[in-house]
Amino acid sequence: MKVIQEIKALRRELDPFTDREVGLVPTMGYLHRGHMSLVSAAVNENDRSVVSIFVNPTQFAPNEDLDRYPRDMERDCRLLEAAGVDFVFAPDVREIYPSGFATRISQEILGDHLCGRRRPHHFSGVLTVVAKLLGICHPDRVYFGGKDAQQAVMVSRMIRDLNMDVEMRILPIVRDADGLALSSRNQYLNPRERELALALPRALNAAGKRVKAGERDAGALIREIKEGIARVPGVALEYVELVKLDDLQPVSEVDPGNTLVAAAVRVGATRLIDNFIAGE
Ligand code: PAJ
Repeated sequence: MKVIQEIKALRRELDPFTDREVGLVPTMGYLHRGHMSLVSAAVNENDRSVVSIFVNPTQFAPNEDLDRYPRDMERDCRLLEAAGVDFVFAPDVREIYPSGFATRISQEILGDHLCGRRRPHHFSGVLTVVAKLLGICHPDRVYFGGKDAQQAVMVSRMIRDLNMDVEMRILPIVRDADGLALSSRNQYLNPRERELALALPRALNAAGKRVKAGERDAGALIREIKEGIARVPGVALEYVELVKLDDLQPVSEVDPGNTLVAAAVRVGATRLIDNFIAGE
């Protein structure tokens, strides 16, 4: 496995493989089993695999956790090497955003709800860096997790809208045994907060059962989730919404397989998100 910091060096490495398929997994590092499920798929489905590790400053607002975002390059590299990854791309900020960098990708409508409403510049930062990573690596396949559902839908729309020649693979949410979705940010939680955080997957799970039992009314499901979370003091609901999967606009009725149920909470200072596709 080679660890590469420079765009030019990565291009040189990937060039000889133009006739072989390349899989890219974009990450911000501090890898867990959720990331590693994407990595395994990239290793298995392509001749060459690239994992990028870049804590992208343009997707963090000034009041967010850019400076304290967890980092452990050594451990990440050990995990990636053991998984059979060929290249780790770990550029520094100046390599990705040299002075004079002036372009940002924005997207209409899909960023209006869910996290986009609360983090107004976040997704344009995500789309911009993902577009750059695709331009740098020219992968045949790129891998994303369903955990960040809005991100996955918006990237998939960018790929379509801008005719980017890459196949997008979206893989299921990986959870801890007790149901909490894995996230690099879970390590901010102290043991008590870690326990409280279960209110989120539990409330979503209960709503998922209601859908399976035939509930279709979005308002009723939202109420159920709100109540489930309100029962646990110390967990503050930021939002819960039911949206159409393809344009992320609110719906009043569940359309099984096409409705995303997504929520965000705060536990202490930590913001956690989770979701499920109703009826799946
Ligand atoms: P990061 O949070 O490091 O996540 C990298 C990828 O791992 C994303 O596609 C995310 O959805 C996926 N992932 C995270 N937790 C997961 C889980 N529990 N199960 C399955 N997949 C999971 O998302 C980002 O980085 C950044 O926004 C990035 C796309 C790299 C752009 O900077």
